[in-house]
Formats: sequence, C-alpha cells, structure tokens
Amino acid sequence: MSAHSVLAFAETLPPLQRPQTLPGRHLLSVHDLSLGETEFLLALAMRIKAHPADFREALHGRTLVTLFEKPSLRTRVTFEVGMGQLGGRAIHLSPDEIGLGRREAIKDVARNLSRWVDAIMARVYSHADLAELARHSRVPVINGLSDFEHPCQALGDLMTLVEHKGTLAGKTLAWVGDGNNVLHSLIYASTRLGLRMRVATPPQYLPSPEVLATAVFEGGQILLTNDPREAVAGADAVYTDVWASMGQEAEAETRRRVFQPYQVNEALMEAAGPQALFMHCLPAHRGDEVTDEVMDSPRSIVYDQAENRLHIQKAILLALLPEA
Ligand code: CP
Ligand code: NVA
Repeated sequence: MSAHSVLAFAETLPPLQRPQTLPGRHLLSVHDLSLGETEFLLALAMRIKAHPADFREALHGRTLVTLFEKPSLRTRVTFEVGMGQLGGRAIHLSPDEIGLGRREAIKDVARNLSRWVDAIMARVYSHADLAELARHSRVPVINGLSDFEHPCQALGDLMTLVEHKGTLAGKTLAWVGDGNNVLHSLIYASTRLGLRMRVATPPQYLPSPEVLATAVFEGGQILLTNDPREAVAGADAVYTDVWASMGQEAEAETRRRVFQPYQVNEALMEAAGPQALFMHCLPAHRGDEVTDEVMDSPRSIVYDQAENRLHIQKAILLALLPEA
C-alpha cells in the first residue's frame, strides 16, 4: 500500500473523520491532535498490526532521522524497525553526534536535516528545544519524549487499553506516582477519548497545572488525590512510571523516600480489584515503583504496551509524512 492509499484506506474504516490535516504536521504533544485525528491514528495502528504486509512499501525510499539526547531501548528500536517494515530507513544520531544547541544551534540542525530527510524523531531534555527544532524544520518533527510529554507512548498505551478493554469511554485509568511527561500525554489522550483518570501523586509532584487546566476545560474527567488506594479502587488499569525520570538522577534518593507509599505492589493491586490491569511505559525500576510480582503477573500488559509502540509509530509516520 502506498502512502497515498493509506488515506484512501482510512475512508474504508468505520466512521472516522479523515484527517486531511495530518500530512506535513509535527507531533510534539497529544494535545496537537483532534479527536478525529487521534481515533484515526489508533484505527490505522490496529490495521497495521493486523495486516503489516499491506503497508510494506508505504514509505519506500523515505528516511527518518532519530535524534537522541537521552538513552532509549523501545523508542529507538521501534522507530528503526518500523521504518524498515514500511520500506524506508532510519538514521540514528546519538547525543555525542549532534550536540543539540551546543555543537550547533538548534535551528541549524533543523535546517540541515530538512534538506536531507523526510521526518525527524527527537528525544530531548527540554520541550522548548523540541519546539525550537520544529519551528525551524520543514519536515515533520515527532516527539520521542521530552521533559513535558511522551505522545507516542500515550497513544500506544490507549491502543493497548482498547485491545484489552474493548473501549475507552467510561473506563477508568489510575495513575500512581510522579506527575511527569508520560502522565501529561495520557491526560491529553484520555481527555480526547473519554477515558476517566484518577491520579495519585505526592502533593509536591503534581502534574502540570497547565495540562490539568486545559484537560478539564476540554471536558477531561480527572480526579487528583494523594492517596493511591483512592485512585486505584475499581479502576480498569493501574499505571505507574519511574520515580525519577531521565535528567532527574540527582533527585533520585529524595524521590525514593517520598514515593515509597506509591509503590504498586500486590496489596495495591488487590485494593484496585480483579478487573484492574497493570501498565508501565518501561523501563521499570523493579522493587521501587513496582514489585516483581506485579510486573510479572497475568494482569501486567507492559509488553503489549511496548509492542504497540511499533504499530502506533508506523501509523504516525504514515499519517504525517507528506506524499512523495
Ligand atoms: N517507554 C520508552 O519510551 O522506552 P525507552 O526509554 O526505552 O525508549
Ligand atoms: N518518565 C520517564 C519515561 C521513560 C520512557 C522518563 O522521562 O525518563
């Protein structure tokens, strides 16, 4: 299937608003996506997962550059494998190779890359740097994690929840831990798709007030609490992430003390109820935010989440890359 016929194909899917708006766009935040665009990406990802061969040549001859300021397993491998499966290629640039804003101004990196490649995936420390990169790029820039958001993760996660729960509307996702980048993207994605959220963080580690205000203004149903048990009771899934994100290593010891009551262990999953699945974006720090028992239990869908990063990112690449 060619990149062109992907949009034609979308017409054949159940009632989806066809997003003519996506080609050529950046994806820095889940909030950039409308409801129709979000549903389209999820539906396309499911179709790609079911029929990967139909999309084998869709990005033939196209190149993605993946630019990393931080380490990665899932994001790097899934973008590289995904581009290969779509008939294109990916070029990996490690932190030492680019020196974003140090060896070279961010706008010069963006202007150079725009002359050679079809899209840029960037994992950066500062979301402002990502926005600067996008401002000066003529090709789509995809957020592969910043200090503020992780949109590919959240979209893949909601796809995973749909697979396990059948629908999102009226379901509840409990977040337990740090009010971080992954949570911000999940709040935006769930607001779009009608998933309720209950968020338990220590008082000093709340999610961004700007994200909360935007989501609530747009109809998001979000309960904030400092009590993990209140958040998880009756939830359809319990999600946690590391207590110290990449770039916060100096705070790790302080955070380990503050977050101890927020560990997702068998007792907390018991309090959630038998319907509750366990989710984590990974990498997990086993023994800190989650125990081995929960990670390795039948309720854990963490490797389904990891697999779906591949499918959702293929959908994102197909949707954003303009036709050749
Ligand atoms: N979840 C995720 O983005 O994993 P990596 O940091 O390994 O890419
Ligand atoms: N919150 C974590 C997510 C890793 C995928 C971090 O930013 O390090």
